This record gives sequence, C-alpha cells and structure tokens, in this order.
Amino acid sequence: MLFTSKLPDVGTTIFTVMSRRALEEGALNIGQGFPDYPIDPRLAETVAEAITDGHNQYAPMEGVLALRTAIAAKLHGSYGVNFDPLAEITITCGGTEAIFAAIQAVVGSGDEAIIFDPSYDVYDPAVRLAGGRAIRIPLQPPLFRYDWGEIGRAITPRTRLLIINNPHNPSCTVASREDLDALAALVRDRAITILSDEVYEHVVFDGRRHASVLAHEELRQRSFVVFSFGKTLHATGWRTGYCVAPAALTRELRKVHQFNTFSIVAPLQHAIARYISGNPDSWLGLSAFFAAKRDLLSGLLRGTGFASVQASGTYFQLVDYSALSELDDLDFADELIREAKIATIPLSPFYAAAPRMRLLRLCLAKRDETLYAAAERLRHYSTRLLER
Ligand SMILES: Cc1ncc(COP(=O)(O)O)c(C=O)c1O
Repeated sequence: MLFTSKLPDVGTTIFTVMSRRALEEGALNIGQGFPDYPIDPRLAETVAEAITDGHNQYAPMEGVLALRTAIAAKLHGSYGVNFDPLAEITITCGGTEAIFAAIQAVVGSGDEAIIFDPSYDVYDPAVRLAGGRAIRIPLQPPLFRYDWGEIGRAITPRTRLLIINNPHNPSCTVASREDLDALAALVRDRAITILSDEVYEHVVFDGRRHASVLAHEELRQRSFVVFSFGKTLHATGWRTGYCVAPAALTRELRKVHQFNTFSIVAPLQHAIARYISGNPDSWLGLSAFFAAKRDLLSGLLRGTGFASVQASGTYFQLVDYSALSELDDLDFADELIREAKIATIPLSPFYAAAPRMRLLRLCLAKRDETLYAAAERLRHYSTRLLER
C-alpha cells in the first residue's frame, strides 16, 4: 500500500447508492433532493443575457459584487439586519463548499466539532479532513428535539465548532428562537464558533417564521451562516451558494475558498444578481409552494401503511412504515425499489449510531404528477403488504 486513506470508512453517499439502485431497477426516484420541474424561464433568460453580455471570465474570488449587494438587500428584507457585501458575504460552490470551507477555517488538529444526527453527510468527513473529531449527538425520533442539557455535557475545552441545520434535513423539523437562545447561553464565554446551515431558510410551514442565526444578535457575531441558491431557485445544478459571517470569520473562510474553487461561475452570479433583485416573489412564495405539495402527498398517502410525519420545514417529507414491515430502513428501502419500483432515502445512514426507527425520506420538490405516481406505487405496495 503506497498510501493510507484519510477517510477509510467513507463510501459513496446514500443518495448515490439509492439513485444507482433506482436506475438499475427502473424505479421512480422520489428520494433525492432535486426538483424535476423547470426553473423560472425569466431566470433562464438572465443566464443567456449574462453570457451574451460577456460575463465569461473569472469572477472575483469573493463573488460578483452585484450579487453580494443583492444578497445583502435580500438578507435585510428577510432578517432586518445590514451586512457588508464587501467584508461579510462570500459566494461559494453551493452551500456545500461554504460548509467545507467554514469547517477547514476553524477546526484544527485534535479539535472537536459538535454535530447533530441525523446529519447532512458533508459535516463529519469535513471535520475529519481538518484533523478534528466530530462529536455526534443523536436527535431522537419522532420529534428530533435538541436536549440542551446533553449538549452542554458534550462541550469540552477542545470544542471549537458546533454545527446546526435549520430547517433540518432529513427530520423536517425547525429550531425555534428559544433553541437559539439556549444555544447562545451554552456557548457564551467559550471559544466556540457556530456553523448554521440554513439552506432551507425559505421553506417553513404552517405560519412559522424561520429563526435564522442572522436575526440573533448574539449568535450572529460568532457564526458562519450558509445558504444555497440551488434550493431557493430550484436550480441545484447551478452549484451556487453563499456564506454570511462577521468580517474576521469571513477572512478565514476566504483563505480556504481561494485555494479551493477560487471563484464561482461568473455568468450564473450575474444572472442570479439580476433575477433576485427583480423577483422577490420567487422566494417569498416557496413555503406556500412546498406546503401545497406536502399536503397533496400526505393526502394521497392517507389510509395507507405509510404514515406521513407532519413536516415543519424543508422540501422533504418523512413517512413511517412501521405498520408495514419490521425490516430496518436500508432493507425496506431496497425492497421498495425492487418490489414497488420506488426509490426513497432511509434515515439511518445520517446517524453514527441510529436509534430504532422505521422512517423514509421523500422529496417534495417534484411535479404534482410525480407525487401522484409515487403515492400510487406506495399505496399499491402498502395494500399488497397489508393483505399478506
Ligand atoms: C442540509 C443541507 N445542507 C447543505 C446542502 C448543500 O447545498 P448545495 O446543494 O447548495 O451545495 C444540502 C443539499 O441537499 C442540504 O440538504
């Protein structure tokens, strides 16, 4: 062996595995988190314009200023706070790069980062690549609530970073302002940075308001906050996101970013700047758009053995299949691909040590026809199992 793997236990992600299985079995893929409908044609037009206008060379390392300025205006509209586009906003390759860069910027050898399971799959390997150790705290189904006492006990003098994700994928829960207050009290007087992954900021249901770390006076002074235009503009393939952080943290983040991606696709940045400046309705309508899909899918599954768990946010929906099978979620998800020709995402791979649960994640970012077709397959298979 000429080298030693730095991530010996990491394989392909559950998303890749399930998508590959879906293709092999000819199954409808309702698991993976990307829309199957087109983007707003006005957004598509702005890209063509940006390219024709000649925005085809390297963008500035920090991001196109017009986009950072438009983001500052959007943030002010959403959270009532002013951010400096020059010093506090950085455009990244999706939310993923922002997360990776923030972790590399603050976690060093032997440091600890607290992560909550089920956790998005980037966090743990990024901490380990930085030389740190992820302390993974499991959130317990069905409510997936933070236990602030337990979190307090997990903090040690080595704790450098604490990562939250709100709204939370894959549990579809949202954190409250009280959660943020509890978090602020925990880290007060400690050298702990917060990384707040808020890529689903605009998808919260039933009249809730998103409790952003940016709207929390105390927390925002020690936080990297990560957003994604992939989610907000239904364009996951554009790989464009951003990180908002105080100037001192932003300086450190940019040191990583400039030697990684350096800068992000120029015409897309110009296009997004133009589009978001003129179309605030595009994100203000997102909660209602996905709430309608959530209600449609839940309605279609009512009376089947797939019980919808009420989702508070994100564009996902959990279903509980405990009425149908004793199999664990990986095996049952594979059975669904083979027998029902439908691919979902099991939850246990998002845990270091998964509690007993019978939950699968479905994605709501699909055309209504896709949701009807998915529900039909699930209903049919549920009937088959219940008649056995
Ligand atoms: C919780 C969470 N964070 C971050 C990301 C990454 O966002 P992006 O696609 O912009 O890299 C995702 C994407 O699915 C996500 O679900």
